Amino acid sequence: MGCAISGLGLAPKKTTEAASEDEAPHLTSEHIHMIKESWKLIQEDIAKVGIIVFVRLFETHPECKDVFFLFRDVEDLERLRTSKELRAHGLRVMSFIEKSVARLDQLERLDSLAVELGRSHYRYSAPPKYYGYVGTEFICAVRPILKDKWTPELEKAWKTLFQYVTQLMRQGYTEEEEEAKRSNTVGSSRERPDKRNTAL
Ligand code: HEM
Repeated sequence: MGCAISGLGLAPKKTTEAASEDEAPHLTSEHIHMIKESWKLIQEDIAKVGIIVFVRLFETHPECKDVFFLFRDVEDLERLRTSKELRAHGLRVMSFIEKSVARLDQLERLDSLAVELGRSHYRYSAPPKYYGYVGTEFICAVRPILKDKWTPELEKAWKTLFQYVTQLMRQGYTEEEEEAKRSNTVGSSRERPDKRNTAL
């Protein structure tokens, strides 16, 4: 089932738009309030949302599935809807969103969490160009849960949170990548410790 949200700026940026990547998305107190209130409702369905997000991500962007060692060979995406591994992964990602929501009043704590996540994504070989898709699919998955409580303002608030987090993930990814390059340049044998991301 499709879910069209276009023009939301969650898709990876084209090179011509790259200049705006440095602008920090601004989370207002109104955004924060709306996100927290809506999370109380979304929370009840997090396992379901996690699965929907990833099945849709793999449907719309099969290249993302290839990044996951455990899922890359699964042809029938319907099978993934009942996969214990995908459920567990979806819950890990939802738990990250839960922590992010809990840290909205202390953004420096959210910042360090998201930068660290970006660093680990370098080790998973999951590049930033794909991160925006997750926010898009999250919004598509939670909209039906909130029904008439979903508003354009709420959509903007969630979109801003995902932009905020993915920008910091990108920063962490780049930092880790540069450190790895530096280590390799000085002759160390350091490599991505988890190229195959077998940890699932
Ligand atoms: C907003 C975007 C994303 C968020 C918030 C997110 C969050 C997470 C979290 C919380 C984990 C659990 C492990 C950890 O904490 O390090 C994880 C693991 C992982 N993510 Fe993401 N992720 C995002 C986007 C993506 C994308 C787009 C891909 C693939 C193209 C991806 C690939 C992976 C892989 C391969 C793992 C490791 C799985 C494992 O072996 O356990 N992630 N992600």
